[in-house]
Amino acid sequence: GLPATVTIYEVGPRDGLQNEPKTIPTDVKVNFINMLTDAGFKAIEATSFVSPKWVPQLGDAREVMARIRKAPGVQYPVLTPNSQGLAGALAAGCREVAVFASASETFSKRNINCSIEESLKRFEAVVSAARKEGVAVRGYVSCVVGCPYQGHVDPAAAAAVAGALYDMGCYEVSVADTIGVGTPASMEAMLKETARYIPLDRIGVHCHDTYGMAIANILASLRMGISIIDSSVAGLGGCPYARGATGNVATEDVLYLLNGYGIQHGIDFDAVLRASEYITNALGRPNGSRVANALLAK
Ligand code: HMG
Ligand code: MG
Repeated sequence: GLPATVTIYEVGPRDGLQNEPKTIPTDVKVNFINMLTDAGFKAIEATSFVSPKWVPQLGDAREVMARIRKAPGVQYPVLTPNSQGLAGALAAGCREVAVFASASETFSKRNINCSIEESLKRFEAVVSAARKEGVAVRGYVSCVVGCPYQGHVDPAAAAAVAGALYDMGCYEVSVADTIGVGTPASMEAMLKETARYIPLDRIGVHCHDTYGMAIANILASLRMGISIIDSSVAGLGGCPYARGATGNVATEDVLYLLNGYGIQHGIDFDAVLRASEYITNALGRPNGSRVANALLAK
């Protein structure tokens, strides 16, 4: 059966904005995150403490964290690829961080400039230091069903990386179809392997919609017992290492799917639409959500 309740982990401010070529004013980021807080999300990935040489758009991470309104009961996780990132996040008062590994060697090298094995060693230090401070750590695995460089990814290999993150103390691991090439069949195969290492209620799915499969992949995941879904308002985002890769699955489209089944999510749909209109206008971009486009055209 399907889960009665689903947690939406909103990644728009981080994954959605990280590759925008034009510098987005900090004000816009702060307004956007505040609107997401008003919409009722319980997890809003706010920014990244990464090298500004690698991701210049998020170079204002410290300021963003200082200026957003933090609602009680809402987490504002940030990406921390190494100890330096964790130090920045702790100094900024962050209470939840995320480390990000890859199921593909080449992608690991291009994204975080080290091998999978080296990255896991680095993350072990980050996770133990974070947990000493009482800070929760989420894990990500990229390219779990396909890689822009090596193509095929072995589901067992992807699952093993996810398992390593869980074993080192990540409270939850999000398995990511970074370039959106997965199908329900490949998602199911990968999740079946991942579930050998991690309880189903600690696995999140992070789908991109490049091939138009994201909603189908999410439905397949829900049917397997997954209840944590990463998504991005207006389908913001992309992947700098995969030409033509579109954004994350749109939060509006996921909510529409969940509403169809009456699955609880606790999010105010109209408030999401307002945030969606706000950010697409600010970026001067077409809305990447089919549902938002349909509703806003009415
Ligand atoms: P590196 O060049 O190997 O790092 O980069 P390094 O340790 O050799 O340091 C080089 C310079 O970077 C030094 O500065 C450090 O101080 C600085 P310099 O002396 O040259 O002036 N530095 C930092 N500055 C700020 N914050 C830090 C930091 N660390 C070092 N944390 C590194 C390695 C990991 C830092 C780099 O590759 C990096 O920042 N990568 C981040 C890439 C990224 O953010 N990618 C996007 C997020 S992942 C994603 O989108 C996938 C996901 O959504 C799931 C999916 O869809 O698949 C999660
Ligand atoms: Mg992503």
